[in-house]
Amino acid sequence: MGFKRTLLAAGAAVGILAGGATGALAGQPTVEVLHWWTSGGEAKALKALKDDFTAHGGKWIDSPVAGGGGSAAMTVLRARVLAGDPPTAVQLKGPAIQEWAAQGVVANLDDVAKKEGWDKVIPPMLQKIVKYKGDYVAVPVNIHRVNWIWANPKLLAEVGAKIPTTWAEFNTVADKLKAKGITPLAHGGQPWQDATIFETVVMGIGGADFYRKALVELDDNALKSDTMIKVFDQMRKIRGDVDADFSGREWNLATNMVMNGKAAMQIMGDWAKGEFLAAGKVPGKDFLCAPTPTKGGAFILNSDSLVMFKVKGKDKIEGQKLLAKLILGKKFQETFNLYKGSIPARLDVPMGKFDSCALKSLADLKSAMKNNTLVPSMAHGIALPGNLSGAIIDVVTAHFNSNMSSKEAVKRLAEAVDLAKS
Ligand code: GAL
Repeated sequence: MGFKRTLLAAGAAVGILAGGATGALAGQPTVEVLHWWTSGGEAKALKALKDDFTAHGGKWIDSPVAGGGGSAAMTVLRARVLAGDPPTAVQLKGPAIQEWAAQGVVANLDDVAKKEGWDKVIPPMLQKIVKYKGDYVAVPVNIHRVNWIWANPKLLAEVGAKIPTTWAEFNTVADKLKAKGITPLAHGGQPWQDATIFETVVMGIGGADFYRKALVELDDNALKSDTMIKVFDQMRKIRGDVDADFSGREWNLATNMVMNGKAAMQIMGDWAKGEFLAAGKVPGKDFLCAPTPTKGGAFILNSDSLVMFKVKGKDKIEGQKLLAKLILGKKFQETFNLYKGSIPARLDVPMGKFDSCALKSLADLKSAMKNNTLVPSMAHGIALPGNLSGAIIDVVTAHFNSNMSSKEAVKRLAEAVDLAKS
């Protein structure tokens, strides 16, 4: 379904949130922020933004829409815009930013960008995401890495294993864990979580060039290739590594399973680290982090941004400018990302307070940029517009939740992408 049609369809699903600036002092900079940061670590990170905003005289109206990955939040956003009542600021990502900008409903942030020198501090890979036709229309908050394994060191030690570095090793470790009655992989069976695992497998088995061909360029040969068959074979193996209750589970509950010794590992972006930290866990001791098996230290990029929608009223417009300015502040970038599990969106923030996982993320990001192994996340809406990633994710989930053969999955994948492209 194209973007406009999706927008219209959302009219039927109106779930209007309380909005407006009621209670604000006259002229007080005010924002209403629509987001899906409701888990422990996410909420702490968001509170840092709220606190910074209110400390600078702003009034913050919170509009959370629960649901990891944000698809519920996007449905609410479409309904709000259709109803002529857009939130002042919205958590948005990747090509969705461009799509909303093309609709003419988002505010231009060039004034703030010029004053704050964004061109100098935002890395070019993020500038591409947050600019539309050369103008800033979004403010990047963070840099998340998707391809991580989070592990419980005690459970791995029970089978004498370390975090696996190849998929073959992953399978051996998983089998040993199962033989001891330990669930190898904590997983939440929601389409975006299935897709999160899938893209790390595409990267690990195919490498960065294959990832780009298949999940960014949507090359028919790559989608139908033997490599893709191997990817689905690995997904089938992984399906046997999750517990019986995985279906529908939220990602942070899966993280809790690793924390509480109910499962040995989770494949998830580094927002999972935010959960460990919020629970007082220490990296390297209570939990381990390592990249998912990959050739050449690749980095699958996910980055959150806030987009300001066109609104009326001086208080709201001033609120948007203040929020946009604060988000890229050096101190704020440090505080927010320490909670969120990500690394800062500007690369000149002192990293002294960040842990070993964050430092690894930054080092791998830099080497991935140099070696051309930095790729955008398909599962998290950075690589493709929603209708195209949706077509892929549907097939991934259908395969994961059935006995579909790898051959059939590859056939359906190519067909679904073809249809979504037309
Ligand atoms: C991602 C988002 C992260 C985190 C995660 C789980 O798509 O970029 O910031 O919130 O979903 O909700």
